[in-house]
Amino acid sequence: MTNNRKRLFMVFGTRPEAIKLAPLIKSIQEDGGFELKICVTAQHRELLDGVLREFNINPQFDLSIMQEDQTLDYITYEVLRTVGELLDLCVPDIVIVQGDTTTAFASALAAFYRNIPIAHIEAGLRSGNISAPFPEEFNRRAISAISSYHFAPTSAAEATLLSEGIGADKIYTVGNTVIDSLLMTKEDKIDYKILKFINDRPFFLVTVHRREHSDKELEEIFEGIKNLLEDNPRICAVYPLHKSPRVIKKATEILKDTENIFLCEPQSVKSFHSLLRKCLFVLTDSGGIQEEVTFLGKPALIARYVTERNEGMESGVLKLVGADGDAIYAAATLLLHDKYECEKMTRPSLVYGDGNASRRIVEVLKRV
Ligand code: UD1
Ligand code: UDP
Repeated sequence: MTNNRKRLFMVFGTRPEAIKLAPLIKSIQEDGGFELKICVTAQHRELLDGVLREFNINPQFDLSIMQEDQTLDYITYEVLRTVGELLDLCVPDIVIVQGDTTTAFASALAAFYRNIPIAHIEAGLRSGNISAPFPEEFNRRAISAISSYHFAPTSAAEATLLSEGIGADKIYTVGNTVIDSLLMTKEDKIDYKILKFINDRPFFLVTVHRREHSDKELEEIFEGIKNLLEDNPRICAVYPLHKSPRVIKKATEILKDTENIFLCEPQSVKSFHSLLRKCLFVLTDSGGIQEEVTFLGKPALIARYVTERNEGMESGVLKLVGADGDAIYAAATLLLHDKYECEKMTRPSLVYGDGNASRRIVEVLKRV
């Protein structure tokens, strides 16, 4: 008997890719009409493994590439080489990548070199500045140039792809799978130690990890947080530290003696999403969190100078504050003391999707 099921090969390596692909994996598996092979490069190790466990994802291949303080050259080379070898072995019909990490870029390149069609999830995001975020703006533009199926999260992303000459018949505007994921983690599950620290106080949530932040910029961000917390002793902050050694070093150096901030391990997705729902506001340089807060209508100060999540800016939920301690202090102070300002930024929006993106992607993958 011949097996006519389409062979999909999905590659990812970091926490946000895993979170955004988890609902798609579930939809593909529930559909039953595909042969899906999952390959993790493990560009992230602990951050990735937590998500794999939480969403019950069992990859067929684990390339285990992560090194401490890895360089972009190293990730690119190692993913290109090892994913390439696996593609030669598996010969899939379609390779699926998500977003703009170096795993996504190098995996797409390996597929392109073998003439295997690429499906790009979350296509068409652009900041307009090749250096910010770095190297992600390059990665996503390069993936768009070589993909066959472009899954745009919003109509603005679709318009961007069209303006770059990509055929309308290759673009599918489906929403962002991060919203599907957010709807899979609805029950409250906050770590007990964090609840004890918060102790019913109003709190804000912090995450910082971008490569383009210089050490000076990291210092600026952390000094802004420190000053804010010292001047507002009745509030507190929860900061799950990213595993990047550079960020851990700077954050602990500057914030270790500030009593009203809790520096903790990266949180499970459920715990983090619960914290997102409960906090006053978020201070972050993350990409995915910008989409999550826009859906939830949670005010967010973005520690970057440009964003590719313009829909969230337009809906009023996001405000760019740069890597600038004074701007962070001023914007957060306004949110804490000006009820009108806070309400203005508390606007839930469906612009990033309705939770059905994965189902739509599966329908397209069946058709093409
Ligand atoms: C990567 C992505 C970025 C994404 C981010 C999500 C690239 C170039 N960057 O950035 O687009 O926003 O993931 O978090 O693809 N580390 C660990 N354990 C882990 C994860 C990281 O120890 O589980 C440490 C390692 O020392 C590693 C360093 O963090 O060398 C940096 O990780 P890397 O994946 O290179 O960069 P991120 O800043 O995490
Ligand atoms: N997240 C998490 N635990 C944490 C911090 C973040 O589960 O302690 C989730 C968050 O909800 C979002 C994703 O991780 O879905 C964002 O990942 P990150 O900021 O590392 O990457 P980016 O989105 O910037 O690429």
